[in-house]
Amino acid sequence: MVDQHSMMVIGGQWGDEGKGKVVDLLSGGFSAVVRYNGGHNAGHTVRVGDRKFALHLVPSGIIHPGCRCLMGAGLVIDPTALLREIDRLAEEGIDVGGRLFLSPRAAILLPTHRALDLAREGVRGDARIGTTGRGIGPAYQDVAQRRCLKAWILTDPAAFETAARSVMEQHNRELITLYDAEPVDIEAAVDELLSAARRLAPTVREIGPDIRRLVDVGKPILFEGAQGVLLDVHWGTYPFVTSSSCLPAFAAVSCGIGARYLGPVLAVMKAYTTRVGAGPFPTEDFGPAGNGMRERGAEFGTTTGRPRRCGWFDAVAARHAVEVAGIDAVALTKIDVLDGMETLKVCVGYETPDGRPVAGVPADAALLESIKPRYVDLPGWEGRTEGVITEAELPAGAVGYLQFLEEQLGVPVVIVSTGPRREETLVRGSSLFAERLRPLIGARSV
Ligand code: IMP
Repeated sequence: MVDQHSMMVIGGQWGDEGKGKVVDLLSGGFSAVVRYNGGHNAGHTVRVGDRKFALHLVPSGIIHPGCRCLMGAGLVIDPTALLREIDRLAEEGIDVGGRLFLSPRAAILLPTHRALDLAREGVRGDARIGTTGRGIGPAYQDVAQRRCLKAWILTDPAAFETAARSVMEQHNRELITLYDAEPVDIEAAVDELLSAARRLAPTVREIGPDIRRLVDVGKPILFEGAQGVLLDVHWGTYPFVTSSSCLPAFAAVSCGIGARYLGPVLAVMKAYTTRVGAGPFPTEDFGPAGNGMRERGAEFGTTTGRPRRCGWFDAVAARHAVEVAGIDAVALTKIDVLDGMETLKVCVGYETPDGRPVAGVPADAALLESIKPRYVDLPGWEGRTEGVITEAELPAGAVGYLQFLEEQLGVPVVIVSTGPRREETLVRGSSLFAERLRPLIGARSV
């Protein structure tokens, strides 16, 4: 019998929506949190009191002492980056021992993947994707090419050394011949990898049996997606996407559990839109509105520090996400960044430059790049949403904004985040989803 109370938290836009905060808030109510896609390109920020944790690979549930954290086969793992994160958590008094487990089928990301990522971006010129430079694309390419190393090999140092040398030598030949780039120092890389492998070996263990056992005895799981639907390799703004699937269904593939073990989908979306890296962004605003969002919202990447591109809420792109990812409800973050803006624009339709309507998000990135957004203007609000913890205290304009987004998306906005801290959060409405969330995050019900 499968428990219906497992839950998925995914990004509903181009990443950086604030998933770390939402997952951290909810994870106290779950026996395990699972990361199932991407690698250390992700940056999930969790604030607890005055402490700030920037997580990249470790699931955001780790801050809760009793929470088990599992990492699926669909991840690409840089062993050194993972250890760095584990060590930083230890410095903050958070011990991952005995509760962080890595699928033996996860892919190992090598230093040469990073070098290839940078070299390829370097020769792409105007067609560059603006990757995080972490080696994510080349690692997933090696998964598909069937030459990548899988995490089980961390438990067999001799096999690891032989295989890592062989693959890194192939990569070095590519770096030299295709990109005229500096090869990676293989001796230094092998030393680093072997010392990381020694420490990570005890974490390598199948995660599917754990998930199935927990769910079968009524202990629900929280699945934590990385990046966002619009960065999904199949349903995002291809080719300006990441190399993994960011859709919730991929969790079943990554964990080896079957789709019936997944739960309803909560998508985190920002009250406006941001994007890092290149690619179409129809509602991008280059004027004072966009600059204001960047400044007030501190829109600089957790992983790379790059300034994020900012713009208005794009209800067409968000509705695409609702449809292709099967989103049941939305957690809207950073509404406080819109405090004090006189007029708010929401994009409700796309048109070609000569005024013909375009249905939904087109597959053709060049067409999407040329799109003219059709906006509805909504009034802003004078009061503040910052730090508000009940819907009754929200300014009427903010409630109107939330209701408009719900109409556009066709799903309820059940969580509103009004600041970076755990307590700056409210749960809205009486949907089944909201009722389930309230006790989980201890929200007041007004
Ligand atoms: P990659 O995942 O490093 O290959 O980068 C591909 C695209 O996805 C680039 O536009 C990145 O900026 C974007 N991207 C990757 N991970 C994240 C994330 O966690 N948040 C936001 N954008 C991301």
